[in-house]
Amino acid sequence: MRRTGDVPGGSDAYARALAELGRELAGPDGLNAAIARLYEQFDHYSWIGFYRVEGGELVLGPWRGPQATEHVRIPVGKGICGAAAASGATEVVEDVAADPRYLSCFVSTRSEIVVPVSRGGRVVGEIDIDSDRPGAFDDHDRAFLERVAKLIGSSGAIAADTAPPASWLVDEWGRESFPASDPPSRWAGRDTPARGAVRE
Ligand code: SME
Repeated sequence: MRRTGDVPGGSDAYARALAELGRELAGPDGLNAAIARLYEQFDHYSWIGFYRVEGGELVLGPWRGPQATEHVRIPVGKGICGAAAASGATEVVEDVAADPRYLSCFVSTRSEIVVPVSRGGRVVGEIDIDSDRPGAFDDHDRAFLERVAKLIGSSGAIAADTAPPASWLVDEWGRESFPASDPPSRWAGRDTPARGAVRE
């Protein structure tokens, strides 16, 4: 398990990064700049990407790392990423090899953290970070990245009116579903998913 002392500057590094990210996210291309800063500033963040929720799928946006991932679209509910989007809760996986949900991207990855970003009470995206170190993400990382997720959610980097409801989940037959109170017709102009059973 990594200790915060492994990060140059220790816990102060997180506080400083948070202030800088807040400034960057207020500017143009803020999300891309934020992802770049996180990658450059924290050595144990080996690959970082931002997925947006679009029509029951996670769609890869800005990312940084040594190589591209094949997982540019992930159904909500699949993988570690899909699980976090479905639940709205942070996922920390200390050993990806031991988690049957894990969708493999890079052979070097040992651990992963996925932090959902919400806006208007809905999951609109998420930060996904892979590390080449086992158990790389400690409580400082989780608290820090949850603060970053809040900054992104409130920054305007993702427009709330383009986000489909987080309650579009993939059911046990692989179909997408949505509550009757919030039908996809509200999201006219976007791809409408195949209809599944209505779930509350
Ligand atoms: N490992 C993720 C897929 C995305 S890649 O890490 C970039 C998952 O299990 O959902």
